Amino acid sequence: MENETVKKQVVFSAIQPSGTITLGNYLGAIRNWVRMQDDYHCLYALADLHTITVRQDPAVMRQNILNAYASVMACGIDVDKAPFFIQSHNPNHSQIAWILDCYTQFGELSRMTQFKDKSLRHADNINAGLFTYPALMAGDILLYQADKVPVGADQKQHIELTRDIAMRFNQLYGNVFRIPEGFIPKDGARVMSLQNPTAKMSKSDENINGCVLLTDPDTVILKKFRRAVTDSEMKVRYAPGKDGINNLMSIYSAVTGLSFEQIERDFDGKGYGDFKTAVGEAVIAELSPIRKRYEELLKDRGYIEECYSKSDAFAYRLSSRTIDKAMKKIGFILPKK
Ligand code: TYM
Repeated sequence: MENETVKKQVVFSAIQPSGTITLGNYLGAIRNWVRMQDDYHCLYALADLHTITVRQDPAVMRQNILNAYASVMACGIDVDKAPFFIQSHNPNHSQIAWILDCYTQFGELSRMTQFKDKSLRHADNINAGLFTYPALMAGDILLYQADKVPVGADQKQHIELTRDIAMRFNQLYGNVFRIPEGFIPKDGARVMSLQNPTAKMSKSDENINGCVLLTDPDTVILKKFRRAVTDSEMKVRYAPGKDGINNLMSIYSAVTGLSFEQIERDFDGKGYGDFKTAVGEAVIAELSPIRKRYEELLKDRGYIEECYSKSDAFAYRLSSRTIDKAMKKIGFILPKK
């Protein structure tokens, strides 16, 4: 009974549509988005504004947006419970980003590891957007007064900056923004490349075998796991320095719910070949139904449009309250409604 009177917390998160969704995105974030739908007021976004910090081909970008929208839906998002909108359809995001740019320090942005990594990878295009990107992300979260932000471990630094910006703003103007917290899963928070297990699994991985995509056919998934880089010990156990096996054990544990001790016991006396096949099969059991739903959804463009349109409208209404409040506090005069 008591639970019914406790106000549900607000959950917000987003994903960039910069290519096909990976097993890392799924285990680190989207699986939690789905799990949280019933217990929280959830709101999710396709962060398309974020993708243009890196140059995009227009036709490919349009296709990526639709594909990514359909794949997140296919993971099990129900827009009637958890509206899932397209960031660029809500102008409040660009508006809050400019405002927050003016409350974020150059030194803070210079310390962001993602900025440092991306400027190394795109040395010919270190644009201002790449630098101020964390302020746009902070705005995404703060517009909806989110309590919890389900993300993978790589976003932790951005969430901490979001908190700092919000606290600074609140100190100046009173309680405008709720201070959010990251919600990072116990297993799967940092899925590593299958080919280079010291680097994060990423869609921009040069070696396609390092990254498992939600759209990969079953045979391809199995092949990628069978080729995964491991060590020469040939014993399935979690230990420092065994990055490849540690990564496979983390993935297996995240997908099956088995503890590391249980996995070590189950594979005692068996070789890496058996283990890699078992991980591949467990991942296929999880991803295969998602891929089938994804293929179905892609055929129904009208339904996808309907889902994002109603979500866009909801997000705009909700975020307008926060932006109006923030602007009034700063000293702007609001337009007559
Ligand atoms: P993005 O699009 O790079 O990734 C989406 C989500 O997937 C998680 N993730 C991983 N988790 C575990 N292992 C991996 N190898 C892995 N790779 C990615 C990310 O942590 C993320 O949760 N800036 C964000 C998108 C964003 C956002 C926001 C997130 C924009 N606005 C507001 C939260 C709140 C990004 O680029 O994520």
